[in-house]
Amino acid sequence: MNIQEIIAKKRDRQRLTKEEIAYFIQGYTKGEIGDEQAAALVMAIYLNGMDEEEITDLTMEMAYSGDVLDLSRFGTVVDKHSTGGIGDKVTLILMPTIAALGVPVAKMSGRGLGYTGGTIDKLESIPGYQTGIAVEDFIQNVEKIGISLIGQTLNLAPADKKLYALRDTISCTESIPLIASSIMSKKIAAGASKIVLDVTCGSGAFMKKKEDAIALAKEMNQIGKLAKKETVCVLTNMEEPLGKAVGNSLEVIEAIEALNGKMESDVEAVVTTLGAYMLKLAGKGNDIQANQQEILSCIQSGKALKKFKELVANQGGNVSYIENPNQFPKAEVILEVQAMQTGYVQEVKAEEIGRISMLLGAGRKRKEDPIKPEVGIVLEKKVGDFVKEKEVLATIHAADWESAEKAKQEIQKIDRIVSEKVEKQPTILGIVTDEK
Ligand code: URA
Repeated sequence: MNIQEIIAKKRDRQRLTKEEIAYFIQGYTKGEIGDEQAAALVMAIYLNGMDEEEITDLTMEMAYSGDVLDLSRFGTVVDKHSTGGIGDKVTLILMPTIAALGVPVAKMSGRGLGYTGGTIDKLESIPGYQTGIAVEDFIQNVEKIGISLIGQTLNLAPADKKLYALRDTISCTESIPLIASSIMSKKIAAGASKIVLDVTCGSGAFMKKKEDAIALAKEMNQIGKLAKKETVCVLTNMEEPLGKAVGNSLEVIEAIEALNGKMESDVEAVVTTLGAYMLKLAGKGNDIQANQQEILSCIQSGKALKKFKELVANQGGNVSYIENPNQFPKAEVILEVQAMQTGYVQEVKAEEIGRISMLLGAGRKRKEDPIKPEVGIVLEKKVGDFVKEKEVLATIHAADWESAEKAKQEIQKIDRIVSEKVEKQPTILGIVTDEK
C-alpha cells in the first residue's frame, strides 16, 4: 500500500478501505506522510465525498490516533460541540451552567477555523487562562470543581488537530465527511458518553442550506450510534451572527453579561435548547421546557457565573477580569457604523461579518497568524430591528484607523435596510435524533 495509490483512488471516485484509511491517518499523524499528500487526499475527499462506512472508519481511526480518555468514573458525561459559527459564545455560557447543575463537564474545544471563531481563542483572551494542560490536570479539574475546558493540546485525536489546521489552509472546511469525522473523533477521544451537537445552518455556517445541515446531523447521529454514544443534533440559524459581539474578548464580555442575566434572545434560545437536551441525556429530566427553565433559573441565580469564575481561577485565569470586564484591554480604535437610511434591518450576513472580523485580526488568514484578542465587531442592530438614519448599526474595534475605516465601508456595503417591516428569523430550526 502507498499513499499515491490511495490519493489516486479517491481522485477517481473510488471508495477507500478501512486499511487504506488507517494507513493514511497513522502515517500522517506520525509525520511519515507530508502535508502535500495529505492536502491532495483531503481535497479529493472534499470533491468526491465518502460513503457512511468510509466516514465511520475515518472517524474511528482519527479518534484512536492518540489517547482516548476514560471518564466513566464521572458517570454520564454529556459533551457539546458546534459545527462552527460567527459570534458563537454558547460554550462559555452553557458549560458552566451545566456544571453548576451537577452534570460533569470535560470539554475539548477548537480554535477558529476559516471565518468562524473558536472557543479556545476566546478563553485565551482571559489573561492567564491555560488551555493546554496535562491530561491528569484535566481530569483532576473535573473531579475538583466539575468542569474543565481545554484545547486540543493533549494527545487527543492528534490526527484531527493536524487535519483541521490543514483544511483551513486549503479551503476544505465545508465538507460533510470532514466535519463529521473531525467533530465526532474529538468527542470520542475526549471520553464523552453522550453528545449534543449544535449544527449551524446559513451564511455564517459551513452548511449554507438546511438540507445539508440535516445530512451532516444525520451522519453524526449515525457515527454516535455506531460508537454507542447517544447523539442529539440541534439545528440552529447562522444566517446572521449569534448575539451581538464577534471577536474574542468582545465575546467573552458578552458571555459574562449573559451569565449576569443579560442574554440576547437568540443566544438564550441556543443555550437553553442545547442545555435542555444535555440535561435530558444526563438523565436529569425528559421535559425539554422544564429543563430550559432550569437552565435559565441557574443563570439567574448567579450559580452559573460562580461556576465560570471557578473554572477560570482553576485554569490559571485572572478572575478579576470576569468580575470587572472593563479591565479587558480595549482596541486602539473604536469606530461606529451609522445607518445610511431609516428602516428595518433586512440582512446582516454572518459570513461577511466573520470575514471582516477576521481581517481586523480576530481570526487567522494563515494557521500561524497571531490573533488580536480585543478586535472585532459589536452589532447594535440585528435582522428585524428598526433603525433611524445615522443611528449606530455596529461598532468596530480595530487595531488602527486604516483597518477600521475599511471594515466600516464593508459593513455599510452589506447591511441592507428596507422600508417594509422584516420578521425576525427563528433561531432553532429543528432537532435531529437517531429516531428521526
Ligand atoms: N468544528 C470541528 O471541530 N471540526 C470541523 O470540521 C468543523 C467545526
